[in-house]
Parts: sequence; C-alpha cells; structure tokens
Amino acid sequence: MALGKYQRVDGRKSSSYCSTGVVIAFVALCLVGVWMMTSPSVVPERNEISQDGKVDVGEIPTETKSRQFEDSQGDLPEDAMKGDSNNNSDQQDEGNSEVHDNQKASQQTTEETTEDNQGGKSEKDDGDKGAGSDETSNAQTDKGTGSDETSNAQTESNGGGEKTEETESNADSGETQTETGGHAEPVENPIETKKEEKVNEKVDENQEQQSENSSDNKKDSSDSSQGANEVFPDVAPAEILNETTTQNGSFSTQRAESKNEKEKHQSTESKEEDSTGYSWKVCNVTAGPDYIPCLDNVQALKKLRSTRHYEHRERHCPEEAPTCLVALPEGYKRPIEWPVSRDKIWYHNVPHTKLAAVKGHQNWVKVTGEYLTFPGGGTQFKYGASHYIEFLQDGVLDIAWGKQSRVILDVGCGVASFGGYLFDKDVLTMSLAPKDEHEAQVQFALERGIPAISAVMGTKRLPFPGNVFDAIHCARCRVPWHIEGGQLLLELNRMLRPGGYFLWSATPVYQKLPEDVEIWNAMTELTKKMCWELVTIKEDKVDLVGAAIYRKPLTNKCYESRQENDPPLCKESDDPNAAWNVSLQACMHKIPVDETARGSHWPEQWPLRLERPPYWLTSTQVGVYGKAAPEDFTSDYKHWKHVVTKSYLTGMGISWSKVRNVMDMRSIYGGFAAALKDLNVWVMNVVTIDSPDTLPIIYERGLFGMYHDWCESFSTYPRSYDLLHADHLFSKLKKRCNLVAVMAEVDRILRPEGKLIVRDNVEIINEIEKMAKSLHWEIRLTYSKDAEGLLCVQKTMWRPKEIETIASATA
Ligand SMILES: *[C@@H]1O[C@H](CO)[C@@H](O)[C@H](O)[C@H]1NC(C)=O
Ligand SMILES: *[C@@H]1O[C@H](CO)[C@@H](O)[C@H](O)[C@H]1NC(C)=O
Ligand SMILES: *[C@@H]1O[C@H](CO)[C@@H](O)[C@H](O)[C@H]1NC(C)=O
Ligand SMILES: *[C@@H]1O[C@H](CO)[C@@H](O)[C@H](O)[C@H]1NC(C)=O
Ligand SMILES: *[C@@H]1O[C@H](CO)[C@@H](O)[C@H](O)[C@H]1NC(C)=O
Ligand SMILES: *[C@@H]1O[C@H](CO)[C@@H](O)[C@H](O)[C@H]1NC(C)=O
Repeated sequence: MALGKYQRVDGRKSSSYCSTGVVIAFVALCLVGVWMMTSPSVVPERNEISQDGKVDVGEIPTETKSRQFEDSQGDLPEDAMKGDSNNNSDQQDEGNSEVHDNQKASQQTTEETTEDNQGGKSEKDDGDKGAGSDETSNAQTDKGTGSDETSNAQTESNGGGEKTEETESNADSGETQTETGGHAEPVENPIETKKEEKVNEKVDENQEQQSENSSDNKKDSSDSSQGANEVFPDVAPAEILNETTTQNGSFSTQRAESKNEKEKHQSTESKEEDSTGYSWKVCNVTAGPDYIPCLDNVQALKKLRSTRHYEHRERHCPEEAPTCLVALPEGYKRPIEWPVSRDKIWYHNVPHTKLAAVKGHQNWVKVTGEYLTFPGGGTQFKYGASHYIEFLQDGVLDIAWGKQSRVILDVGCGVASFGGYLFDKDVLTMSLAPKDEHEAQVQFALERGIPAISAVMGTKRLPFPGNVFDAIHCARCRVPWHIEGGQLLLELNRMLRPGGYFLWSATPVYQKLPEDVEIWNAMTELTKKMCWELVTIKEDKVDLVGAAIYRKPLTNKCYESRQENDPPLCKESDDPNAAWNVSLQACMHKIPVDETARGSHWPEQWPLRLERPPYWLTSTQVGVYGKAAPEDFTSDYKHWKHVVTKSYLTGMGISWSKVRNVMDMRSIYGGFAAALKDLNVWVMNVVTIDSPDTLPIIYERGLFGMYHDWCESFSTYPRSYDLLHADHLFSKLKKRCNLVAVMAEVDRILRPEGKLIVRDNVEIINEIEKMAKSLHWEIRLTYSKDAEGLLCVQKTMWRPKEIETIASATA
C-alpha cells in the first residue's frame, strides 16, 4: 500500500524539471567556482591527525591541532573534488575510500513535486476564533487508560521492494560506473562518483547532457592525478575533535550525575539476521502507527500500583528494545512544509478518529477536508498566540523575547501554538505534554514543525539540567503545582535560570470561583516560601484571561532569611543537573553566586550567546576535545560551521527547505545546531547519558536539548523528525546495546524521506549502510577515508510484510 501511494505520487511529477535543471546547472557552476578558488588551500597533511583517532592527540602540538582544525577544508565530497584536482600527491592511500551511488534522481524529484502539489492546494483557513474549552491544553487531566486504537499493522504491511538490496545496489553502482567512464576497477573513483551523485540528485533526464559534461570534467581532473583519494583526509575532520576527556575532563556524565542510573538494556541477542542481512518486521502493537515503546508498555502500565502521579504517563521501557518497524498510517503523505505547517497538517498523518468527535466544538484544531487546521489559538489565547505573546511581554518588559529570553519551557503545551508563534520572536520553546490517548497533541505539534516531547510532570525529574530555561510558561496546564509540598513547582524551580520568569496563565489568576481562590491562595503561599517574586498580574481585556508572572531569585538572601526551611534547601550533594531517572526532590538548590559559576549571571543576549563561550567555562577546565574549555568550544563551533556550510548544506543533495525538525543524536557543544542557525529548522540536541554533560553549555548558548540513552526509545512520536545526525554515536552505543534496535528506533523517529547522517568509524558506517539497505533506504552518499566514514541515507515509505507482535505493547 505504501509503495502504491509512493508510485502514484511519483507519477504526478511533471513540471518542476525545468527549473530544477536550471538550479542544478547553476549549482554545478558554483561548485566549479568554489573548487577553483579553494583548491590551493587544501591541506593534505591531515592524515597526521588520523581520523580514527589512533594517533595520540598528545603527540600533536596544540598549535598544529588548532591550525588543522581551522584549515580543514573538506568535510565533504566537494572538497575532496577540489583537492583532487590539486595534485596532492603526497598522499597515496587508496582503496579505503569508496563512494556508492545508489541514488535515483527520480526520488528527489518526487519529493519536490509532492511539495509543489501541497503548496498549490493550500486552502484558506477560515477558522473562527471562538473560545476553546479547558480540556484543550491541559496536561494532566487525561486519566484514560483505555486503548481505543486498533493496530494498523497488517494493513500497512505490504510494501514493495521485492528485490534484494544487494542486487539493486550492485546494479546501480555498475550503471554509474559505466555512465561515468566505464571504470571496471572494483575501486570506484570517489571523485567522479560523487560528482555523479551530486548532479543526479537534482537533475532529470533533460539535463543529462549537462551532468555528463560535468562528470567528464571531474573525471578528467581526477584522472590527472592518480591519487583520487588522497585528498580525502580532509574529509573527516570530525576526528580532530578527539574526545580525550570523557573520563577525567571537567564535565562529568549524566550517567555519573544520576546515581540511580543502571545499565539496563544490555541485550545483544536477537540480531534477527538471515543470510541476506536483516529481516525486518512491522510491529503489531496496540498503539499501531503511533507506537512509542517506552510510553506504550502496556504490560508495565498494568503492573503500576498507582497512577496518582501520572506514573502511567512516565517512561517504562520494554526490557528489550524492540527491533520491529512501526507501521505507516493509511494515507500518509509527505508532511506539509514549514511555515504552512504551523497552520495546517494532513489529517491522515495524525489520524485520531476520536478527534473530531471529542474536540469538534473547540477551536484549537479543526478538521477541514484533508487537513487539520490550527486557527492559531489555544484555550488561553483565543485571539491568537501572537497577541498573547505580546501581552506577556507587556506585563514584564524584561522578558524581551528573543533577546533576554531565548530558550523557554512550555509545560502542558497542547498543540504548542505558543512555541510555534514564538519562533517569530527568535525564541526557542521546549514544549512538553503527556502522551494522551484520544488526540496526540505532541504529535500534532511535531507534525506542525514545532518542537515538543512527550513527557509528564510525574514522579521523576524532567530530562533537563538545572538553571537552564530563561522562562517557563504554563497556560492552563492544570498541573497541581501547589500540592504535596509544591514538589512539581520545585521541579520548575530547579530548571529555571536564576532571575528567570515563570509565566502562569490559569483560571486561579483571574477567576473567583471557590476552587480558583483556593488554588490561588495556596500558590501565593508556596511561591512566597520559595522566594519567588510576584512581578505582576496582568489581565488581558481582549482574551479575558490573566497571567501571573513570578521571578526566581538571583541571590540566596531570601532563602537565608526565611523563618522555616520549607521548602527545604537541597543537600549540598544533590546535583541540580542530575536528571536521568532521578526522582523528584521537594527541595531548592542554592543560587550559584560565585562569579565563575553558571547561573550567577544571565547569559549574553541572543544571538551573541550562540558564539561566545559561556563566561563560566574557564581555561583551567579541560574541554571534551582535550583543549582548554573555551578554546574547545570555539574550535567545535568553527568545525561544525565548516562541515555544515561546505558539506551538509551543499554537498549531500539535501533540500533544506524541506527540513524542519532536526535532531543531533549525540551533541557535544551544540555546534551542529549552531551552524544551522540561519535555516528555518530547529535542532533537538541530545546529550547521551554517558557523554560528558555539556547540555548546560548548549542551553547557555541559546540552544536546547535533553538527556537521553539511545539504548532506549526516545519520547517522541513516530515520523517526527526530518533529519537525524549521529556523530560517533553508534560506535559508542554498540558496546552497550543492540544496534538493530537503535536502527529500528531511528526508523521510527524519522519521517519517510527523512535523512540520517552518520559520521563514524568505517566498520560502523558499513554496518549502518548495510542495515539501511535492508530497510530499503536510499544510500545517498557514503564516503570513507582510512578508518573514518561519512554516510547519508534517506528513509523511504517501505514497510516489511511480516508482522512481529510485541507482547509488552499489546493490550
Ligand atoms: C581519540 O583518541 C584516542 C587515543 O588517543 C582513541 O582511542 C579514540 O578512539 C579517539 N576517539 C575518536 C572518537 O576517534
Ligand atoms: C598536477 O601535477 C602534474 C604533474 O605533477 C602537473 O603536470 C599538473 O599541472 C598538476 N595539476 C594541477 C592542477 O596542479
Ligand atoms: C557537453 O559536451 C558536448 C560534447 O562533449 C557538447 O557538445 C555540449 O555542448 C556540452 N554541453 C554543455 C552543457 O556543456
Ligand atoms: C586522564 O587521567 C589519566 C590518569 O588518571 C591521565 O593519564 C590522563 O592524562 C588524563 N587525561 C586528561 C585529558 O586529563
Ligand atoms: C497482533 O497481536 C494481537 C494481540 O496479541 C493478536 O491477536 C493478533 O493475532 C496479532 N496479529 C498478527 C497479524 O500477528
Ligand atoms: C530508574 O531507577 C530505578 C531505581 O531508582 C530503577 O528501578 C529503574 O529500573 C530505573 N529505570 C530506568 C528506566 O532506568
């Protein structure tokens, strides 16, 4: 079924060829230009650095290291091409580099055509601005445990792709070779093939002539210097940033910080390999195409003794991470592009049959033909999120959206319209809401291209460091802040930056019903004891709502002058950054006051804070790559800017206008995300629990992310990201968990036609490539040099036919 759809879409493509071709020609010309200008600067001495890190970094004088770092010209194929023509004949290593081009130009075209169609069809949304009701965005009201959805697994299971991968790819590469000059040698000429790939990516039949010419050109230049591969050392500069200090650097790991953490999923078995590689199956689970393994563990939920604290919305990962693939919903289409997606998405991509019935009378979402449309309202801002955003800033000018307040947390976010409209203000919003049965609001948010995760304020700390959010917002989120010693509000207090604001927009602020008054009084008492200053109560005459704005203190003065130690200050040993599987503590951490401590000053204003090393990173600290921390930070920034501009943006055939939701699966300083700043994307930076804990740095520079262990499933819906970036992730994971399960998780998270970029050692690259092929993904680029490699693959609509029933996830 999925295949059929895909082909149908394919058949529609028609008129975009011409313009695409022109673009390609232009790009090709530019490339030649870049190539000519930059060739002389290619520095071949990179192999000193040894991409596999075998070379001891210590042997290389720091100066050399940093120079190489800055000089590294080629993280990408183009650079390789440049270098190639440059006769860098001092390096003659061949044979390690290979490039496979299995690319089908038509796929790319399909993608574009589909997009065009969507754009053309846009309907005017005429949503009225009527009031929503309370149910809309409350995080904590859903008590349902029923499972209404039936599995769609079977319906989705027939895919195409009967051919074995091996056959296909062999055929492809053979073809490529012939086309580009009939090389028969087993070792492909990387330059040439890459050029071919590059051109193929955007060129259709009409442009064949041109692409051949440019291939020829490239071939000529590569032929002229025997060592086509010799320039490739420049391609793997990631390794310059060798992480030397995981164990004894200045940053401890989230794992170490979270004392309770245990090694969980050690499972190495069940490779499910047959002679041809891997045999994938579609998950037969109650949640069907919306399966989130750690949130849909029906069996574990049944065993819960209590759900009073929303334990049933917390993570309960299956003993063994699933290796099956999640079904596609019937009628799934390529998601609508941002920013149109902020207002409407395909109904069939998030088919919640109860939605229309249950929420039909509300205004935050409507079913409009094939679309779900979002009139831009929420329960708390029926006149639009933009108005509401201004309203809050009018309350406290200091909020200064996009300057002073850059990274905020939205609790109980509903469909995240608030976060969606804050993009207009250069504000990045981490939205969270618990998984709910009837309408998956977080799924809507992600489908709209707005960041969100499934999480609940329950019994565990949220997976964020302490003192990182510039502001925290909650609009009718219905979290019972005031009960149980204010435990949940104290969790917000942990995450809120000293001097940061809590924006509480809820009925107790402006309604006088007895229940509201009671809550208001309790909140007033609690926030006083917590030393939060009530800055203002702002009423909105238009929306007829009100917001109370509190501020977390900047010093410990108030704490010290309290009559009672209630809520208590946390023990000195309690690490505010420990947040992975750590139970909530009803206590407050002291405000850091040391000049060099994080949290003692507000960060620089955005966007300056993106590029400046935080003031609290001192030269005496050793960074992740072994240099002094600030230097390390700057190197990382330059490195990723280089890689992204030279390679990812232009060299991989990725249409970035179609990319919106991005995840860096193993982020260090957030350099990759920082390099994408000017694009219309947002990046979820994941700091893995056994990496140095650099997440506070990521927040300090105005980016966001969370802790995670990739041996488990991520708390997001299937098909929610357009691009995943895995820099030396899989090699580290392989020691602890089953890579097949990790790949199944990558498949789950990635939207069809979404891309995965992997940088890792060659064995891992080969293994991932093999798995990707067995998943019927398109291999867009593989490149390797010495022991390091780069891989870019694209997920397809393919789903296996076989079914695997996951006992833990079936009711
Ligand atoms: C970094 O270098 C060490 C040896 O100094 C090596 O063991 C390690 O694998 C290298 N790391 C990477 C990511 O290449
Ligand atoms: C490459 O080297 C050869 C011989 O060493 C020389 O003839 C040729 O001009 C060089 N090409 C470039 C682009 O430098
Ligand atoms: C491609 O090369 C052929 C001959 O090799 C030439 O006739 C044609 O004009 C070239 N096309 C372009 C676009 O350069
Ligand atoms: C890490 O510690 C080991 C021994 O404890 C030491 O030999 C090594 O130099 C340290 N590395 C760094 C980068 O500090
Ligand atoms: C899917 O799982 C359910 C519940 O265990 C089972 O009844 C059904 O037969 C399974 N379907 C397939 C195709 O295996
Ligand atoms: C979390 O920690 C508890 C012990 O505090 C442990 O029993 C549980 O298995 C852990 N869960 C996960 C997912 O790590």
